[in-house]
Amino acid sequence: MRLTDEQKRILDGARGIPARVAMEMLVALGDIYGAEDFIPIKSVHLAGLSLKSHGIAGMEWVGDMVEKGARFVVPTTMNVIGVDRSRDLGLPVDWVEAQMRIQKGYEAMGAYGTSSCVPYYYSFLPRFGESIAWAESSAVVFTNSVLGARDNREGGPSAWASAVTGVTPRHGLHLDGNRKGDILFKVNVKCKNISDYGALGNYVGNVTGEKIPVFENLGSPVMEELVLFGSALASAGGVALFHAIGVTPEAPDLETVFAGKKYEVVELGKRELEQGYHNLTSGKNRKVNYVAIGCPHCSLNQVIEVAELLRGKKINKEVVMWVHTNIPVKQMAIQFGYDRMIEDSGAVLTQDLCTILGNPEALGVTTLATNSPKMAFYAPGSNGFDVWYGTVEKCVEAAITGEWKE
Ligand code: F3S
Repeated sequence: MRLTDEQKRILDGARGIPARVAMEMLVALGDIYGAEDFIPIKSVHLAGLSLKSHGIAGMEWVGDMVEKGARFVVPTTMNVIGVDRSRDLGLPVDWVEAQMRIQKGYEAMGAYGTSSCVPYYYSFLPRFGESIAWAESSAVVFTNSVLGARDNREGGPSAWASAVTGVTPRHGLHLDGNRKGDILFKVNVKCKNISDYGALGNYVGNVTGEKIPVFENLGSPVMEELVLFGSALASAGGVALFHAIGVTPEAPDLETVFAGKKYEVVELGKRELEQGYHNLTSGKNRKVNYVAIGCPHCSLNQVIEVAELLRGKKINKEVVMWVHTNIPVKQMAIQFGYDRMIEDSGAVLTQDLCTILGNPEALGVTTLATNSPKMAFYAPGSNGFDVWYGTVEKCVEAAITGEWKE
């Protein structure tokens, strides 16, 4: 790779051991991907921060890097961790302590400790065309597709290395030519809510893999529907960028989005939508004892929707219900009284954590109901849960009755 004088100095250790380690990591990645040089980046989102991902060895590595002087040089946000710092949820004490050591370590390097997968809902909004180095697949697909920022699907280590150096190898989705569509999906079914978009995204993710899907006639999804749709594509298929004609900023028409490339056409109808629901449902026992909403973390609109559904009701005594969001959204919910509507029912409005990267199985729950396609996709493997997937209304009903109805 072609390096600037300053980048060579970093590689020689002039800015300390962490910066040298980070630069070595990025040069190795650049060589693997055939990058000619580095691009400066505007921001970083770190992921893989939970104890589940780090383990004890990772926790000690973070402490070592802090001691050796690791510092971030661009605005850096943090993904979800495995605990809620505002309360005791009954999770094992040693788990909470180890998780907080990881969190504090990254904060000492300069990260904003807001711990969420949706930093674009509060202040951290990449601009169109801007290069960034974000990890967290649901955030990557959103920033690329809906905002038109430029980001490869970074892992936790490469995002950390970019936060320390301020650069990323110039390859993949940072380049114009790699942002064109590969497959056209003609949507012949109307998605009515988040869970429909999630189910369709799951179906397409399974078909398209890591290729770039283009959607014609996707309707007029609201922001949260685009977030969940992207998260389903990214989890089932590894999609980092999608285009929706007339909806996303790089897709005014088919000519622009395919730029003369030959492409396959796939029709999507009711059958494919139903297949998505089927893929995301592994539940056998209709007795539900865990309900979770908010993967990716809920926006204020989603918190209000759940609060209104729970208003004046009580959830079943056998059920744990968590509604996942972050500190900024939770503080707004507190200000307007929506947290009380949720918590008076017996459900919990959590901050910082999520089902997949947390440890709710430690509470003894086994059967999950959710409207989040990414959570439904990962929970059987990561938490060992049986999963029922459906609308937020059905999930709240399951929380109240303790049962997943037909
Ligand atoms: Fe966010 Fe956790 Fe889901 S990080 S996207 S809530 S798996």
